[in-house]
Amino acid sequence: MDCRKVPFIIVTLFYLFISSSGEGRGDVSGSDIKYIDEAVQIVNTIFHNYKEIVPPRGFYPDPVYLGIHLNVLYVSDFDQVAQTLTSTVELEVTWNDTRLSWYPVGVYEITIPQDKVWSPNLSMNNAIGAPSLIDDQKYVIKHTGLLYMHKRMQLTTTCATNHTDDSAICEITVGSNLVNHEIIDFNEEQSSCDVSSNDVDHRIEVSLEGVEKRPTERPLLKANETYPEFACRMKVRLTGCCGSMKSSPANRKQENGAVVSQFYMFTLLVAFIISMLVIDSRI
Ligand SMILES: *[C@@H]1O[C@H](CO)[C@@H](O)[C@H](O)[C@H]1NC(C)=O
Ligand SMILES: *[C@@H]1O[C@H](CO)[C@@H](O)[C@H](O)[C@H]1NC(C)=O
Ligand SMILES: *[C@@H]1O[C@H](CO)[C@@H](O)[C@H](O)[C@H]1NC(C)=O
Ligand SMILES: *[C@@H]1O[C@H](CO)[C@@H](O)[C@H](O)[C@H]1NC(C)=O
Repeated sequence: MDCRKVPFIIVTLFYLFISSSGEGRGDVSGSDIKYIDEAVQIVNTIFHNYKEIVPPRGFYPDPVYLGIHLNVLYVSDFDQVAQTLTSTVELEVTWNDTRLSWYPVGVYEITIPQDKVWSPNLSMNNAIGAPSLIDDQKYVIKHTGLLYMHKRMQLTTTCATNHTDDSAICEITVGSNLVNHEIIDFNEEQSSCDVSSNDVDHRIEVSLEGVEKRPTERPLLKANETYPEFACRMKVRLTGCCGSMKSSPANRKQENGAVVSQFYMFTLLVAFIISMLVIDSRI
């Protein structure tokens, strides 16, 4: 996304953060006022009559196509026994909502809080427990009506493993559980997964195995409909690096506990000996 590289100025406008690329106006210093006027006008215009619960199906009967990018930043744990993978991921989703486009003069994109726009209710389908958000979910609207959503989270996902095997294929899946493929679908050309293998723990080796788009079913919600799911498949292997004992935080706590209690026992023993000596010398 080259637009991220364009320097931009950020102006705070009560809850709205509005930014401009300053393109085509060599000098940005001049008119903040003009800039704010334009931004306010854009916000008033695009949100006039905008209903965030209505999906942007400008090309009906086509669904809303989503571009998905899942970036696996760090894998902190792979547990063969519990069959789980714990990772930190960045999820980026893009789609077009032509209701939110404008003709730019100086303001090329605006950043808005969640709840202001329609967004696909995607879930991390194989997460066990709620993912913990590291960053707030953020949205940027470009003047073309392209929406960009970003969120960074830590999550634990299921990963079927063979407890005797040091490696497994683990997936992180993103899917739509509420709206079916007639309403949203993943644009495969614009969807991808990245694994930052050099950032992961030395104990764990992770590489990208591939991505997959597949249908899932919710017969109770609607028979004969499919719900799209995007899977990022990774090969995960325990390297056996750095000592045979896997030092999970829980283990470390226990180790610390053991050290503390040994120290405590030793202190008690010393105190006991000293008191015996004192008593002895008094007698
Ligand atoms: C949004 O629209 C642009 C321009 O028509 C197109 O290139 C892009 O693929 C669309 N984005 C998605 C996610 O479909
Ligand atoms: C989508 O999910 C968010 C919370 O993740 C919720 O607040 C919102 O109401 C949901 N939207 C729909 C249409 O279900
Ligand atoms: C696990 O590995 C063992 C030994 O390689 C094999 O016999 C067994 O079928 C495997 N189980 C699964 C579920 O893959
Ligand atoms: C759904 O599919 C089943 C099996 O293919 C078929 O018997 C049934 O009539 C279908 N229902 C609808 C509403 O199309």
